[in-house]
Amino acid sequence: MAEEEILACSTSDLQITNKKRLKLNERDIFIVKVKDTFYALDSYCYHAGGPLYNGDIEDLGGRTCIKCPWHKYKVCVDTGQNYYQSVDPHNLDQPPKWTSGDVRQRTHKVTVRDDNIYIVLSEMDGTLDSDHHNKNKT
Ligand code: FES
Repeated sequence: MAEEEILACSTSDLQITNKKRLKLNERDIFIVKVKDTFYALDSYCYHAGGPLYNGDIEDLGGRTCIKCPWHKYKVCVDTGQNYYQSVDPHNLDQPPKWTSGDVRQRTHKVTVRDDNIYIVLSEMDGTLDSDHHNKNKT
C-alpha cells in the first residue's frame, strides 16, 4: 500500500515558535523545528501520556531530544528512542554517559517541499509504548 503524504502546514508556521501541534487524519501529532530540520512525533508521551508536545528541546550528548514536562523523560526527536544517562556497573569511577534506548515514541516521516511540510503518518500498530497513550487521543 502506498504511503499517504499529507500536507500539514507551511514552514512559516514554525518561524515564531519552533513547534506546531495539529491533527492529521484525526491523529494528534506535533512538528518541531530544530535548526533547519523538521521532525514529527505523536503528541502524548510514551511514559504516562504527558504532553510531550509542550516539552523543551535540548541537545544532550550529541542528540537532540524533547524533554517531557511531566517526569522529564527525554525522547530523541529523530527516532523516538528514549535517552538517558547510564553508568557501567563494572566501572563505577567513570562518569555517566548518554545512552539511546529502544524506540518508545512514534515518529512520522517529514518532507519539506516548496516551503510546505508534508507528513506520512506511521501506522499505530500497538508495537510502541506511545501507541497506548495516543490511540484514544484522536
Ligand atoms: S509522562 Fe512523559 S515523562 Fe512521564
